[in-house]
Amino acid sequence: MDIEAVRWAESGQALEIIDQTRLPEAEIRLQLDSAEATAEAIGSLRVRGAPAIGIAAALAYAVEAARAAPAGKAALRERLPRVYDVLVSARPTGVNLRWALDRMRGVAEGMPDAGAEAIAERLRAEATCILEEDRAMCRRIGQFGLPLLPENARVLTHCNAGALATGGIGTALAPIYMAHEAGQGVQVFADETRPLLQGSRLTAWELHRAGIAVTLVADVVAADLMRRGMIDLVIVGADRVAANGDVANKVGTYALSVLAKHHGIPFYVALPTSTLDTRCATGAGIPIEERAADEVRRGFGTLTAPSDVPVYAPAFDVTPAANITALITDAGVLFPPFDRAIAGLAADTETEPA
Ligand code: MRU
Repeated sequence: MDIEAVRWAESGQALEIIDQTRLPEAEIRLQLDSAEATAEAIGSLRVRGAPAIGIAAALAYAVEAARAAPAGKAALRERLPRVYDVLVSARPTGVNLRWALDRMRGVAEGMPDAGAEAIAERLRAEATCILEEDRAMCRRIGQFGLPLLPENARVLTHCNAGALATGGIGTALAPIYMAHEAGQGVQVFADETRPLLQGSRLTAWELHRAGIAVTLVADVVAADLMRRGMIDLVIVGADRVAANGDVANKVGTYALSVLAKHHGIPFYVALPTSTLDTRCATGAGIPIEERAADEVRRGFGTLTAPSDVPVYAPAFDVTPAANITALITDAGVLFPPFDRAIAGLAADTETEPA
């Protein structure tokens, strides 16, 4: 995979992202050397997708630690809580952001007797670990998901849950990359994904570049494709999965799940275990981000509605567990009842040796 959505800058003093707001027109890398710059990049979707924003936040936390360390331990201990707050509030729905930052903070707090440089070094190692673990999780999701794809599968996906959204080959797109790698035919229909077009700008871009057959469709075409028998399965990603299996993902996912159910088409959600949030009992407890009205009224700079018309612009919606055929995770494929399957997985993770 030659797409690296987030990585260390060569200098080691910053993280580097592909500015996804510029794709597909231009492939531009940005260096971010502070929590504030990283939070801006997350909030404006320069880096996006739940796993990728978690990774970016972890790297930014480590960058800040390295910057504060030369001034001593007191300076470091004073700066890190602010760094945490700035980053954690960048976007509310994707739980990986908080998950990654809690992990970084836990490392810093677990070294009460260490010097500033040692803490900074350890944080850098932890951030690298979060990035590398995510890469490995993507491959495992791909391996577990692959058997769910029939030969020459016709797959519908929504938004972008691919390499651009993760540290590796994606979540929803991982089984697709693996099917392609295995020489098993696969045809993807990519929803355009209104209003910010992650499907057309990002998913179509990365699949097309990888040589995978991808056809772009406006969101409103999905029902017709399904009715005509042109879709074998749907796979989407997730921003947060509640303890009962309800899934928050890009707005429009719920509608697709209803359509899939109506047409008897399997509806899969792919996620790393870092996207599970067992503290949310159901999807009702998941905070849903609302985006600026102008992302709908004047998307990409063109006025497409009265400039002051009221807009409702949630970035995500919740798909009820009852509409989901299976959850494809890096720890295996989970089938209903999801509450039991997720509880079992959480228990396994807790007892796993470090
Ligand atoms: O607003 P975005 O582009 O960050 O939304 C992304 C999604 O909804 C993805 O499907 C989700 O984060 C999973 S990415 C592996």
